[in-house]
Amino acid sequence: MKAAVVYESIYGNTHSIAQAIAEGLGSAGAAHVVSVEEAARMDLSGIDLLVVGGPTHAHGMTRTQTRHAAVQDAMSRDKGLTIDPSAGGLGLRDWLDALGPSSGRAAAFDTRVDMPELLTGHAAKGIGKKLKKHGFELVVDPESFLVTGDSGLLPGEQERARRWGEMLAMTLSDEQQPST
Ligand SMILES: Cc1cc2nc3c(=O)[nH]c(=O)nc-3n(C[C@H](O)[C@H](O)[C@H](O)COP(=O)(O)O)c2cc1C
Repeated sequence: MKAAVVYESIYGNTHSIAQAIAEGLGSAGAAHVVSVEEAARMDLSGIDLLVVGGPTHAHGMTRTQTRHAAVQDAMSRDKGLTIDPSAGGLGLRDWLDALGPSSGRAAAFDTRVDMPELLTGHAAKGIGKKLKKHGFELVVDPESFLVTGDSGLLPGEQERARRWGEMLAMTLSDEQQPST
């Protein structure tokens, strides 16, 4: 199985989660972690599973304005936040909007603050909707991985992401078993 985990990340948390998901998927074959900027230059046609994730900003996927606000926030306050090397490029929303008609299997995830979803929103929901609109089949429900109010990953979330990747790999291998 060939999988790609496409991520957008400003402070690095979604990037870490993407790497952990790829580790979990690794048991089923190669899983490449690529930034959304790299994904825009890739041919995705040979990919068996496309996993797409980004941070929740203003209750949904990032926008140009929220990405700028995130960078400004990190620079203006001493919160110990670092900017991910991939930040500053293309956002997931624009990449997804530009994807042509597609097919194949996919899954969506996000990072969001550890509070009830009603208050935080959930970028993965929008990511999943756009993937479906382009023709992908979502193999699992969109998933969130949680950060603190200061945008640091909650303890245990990387391990949970690794297990989520393993679960995705199992879902696919179950589907590929011939029925008896
Ligand atoms: C401009 C801005 C808006 C945000 N809006 C939300 C929000 O609506 N809901 C939420 O749960 N988290 C929100 N957050 C927190 C982000 O979800 C958090 O910074 C992100 O998950 C960290 O991922 P990253 O390290 O990959 O950038 C916001 C953060 C920024 C900078």
